[in-house]
Amino acid sequence: MTSKLVIESVDLPGLQVFAKCLVQCLPSRLTIGLIGTLGAGKTTLVQAISALLGVDRADVTSPTFTLLQSHRGGGQTLHHLDAYRVADEDEFLDLGVEELFDEEQAWTLIEWADRVADVMPANTLWLKILLGTDPETRTVEISTSDHELSQALGTALREMISKS
Ligand SMILES: Nc1ncnc2c1ncn2[C@@H]1O[C@H](COP(=O)(O)OP(=O)(O)O)[C@@H](O)[C@H]1O
Ligand SMILES: [Mg+2]
Repeated sequence: MTSKLVIESVDLPGLQVFAKCLVQCLPSRLTIGLIGTLGAGKTTLVQAISALLGVDRADVTSPTFTLLQSHRGGGQTLHHLDAYRVADEDEFLDLGVEELFDEEQAWTLIEWADRVADVMPANTLWLKILLGTDPETRTVEISTSDHELSQALGTALREMISKS
């Protein structure tokens, strides 16, 4: 079963808080599938997570042309991919993504992951970022079919919301 959580009115400072929540409560091996139109804030979220993992956020740019950028932070690796220009699942797999998914102490974040959903790991954390009428905020839909991930996140997010 896939569980889903929705957070509304996430502004830029709110996104930092959300990123902190993810980094603090989630396991050291994780795959995140990012969904959202151009300008939704996918790269911005990757940058916020990177900074918390100890990667210089200036090094984290949109990997549209390189397809994969890997960064090393404090004991943790961050792989950042963009599936926008990937023709199909085979081309995506040819990048060696399965090795990244299995890597210990590594988070793999994939923009436009809905384009390659069929070959994403079963325990992917899906984050869908939606633009609304207010240009200063976003809605974030969180879903995963991994029970442990959803438990950990549910607890941490409720705590985050109760503090805000
Ligand atoms: N939660 C947010 N609230 C307000 N603005 C945001 C938020 N997330 C991102 N932005 C802004 O949206 C713009 C596009 O973000 P970007 O991360 O490049 O989008 P994407 O990678 O999805 O194309 C940037 O100017 C960024 O500052
Ligand atoms: Mg981007």
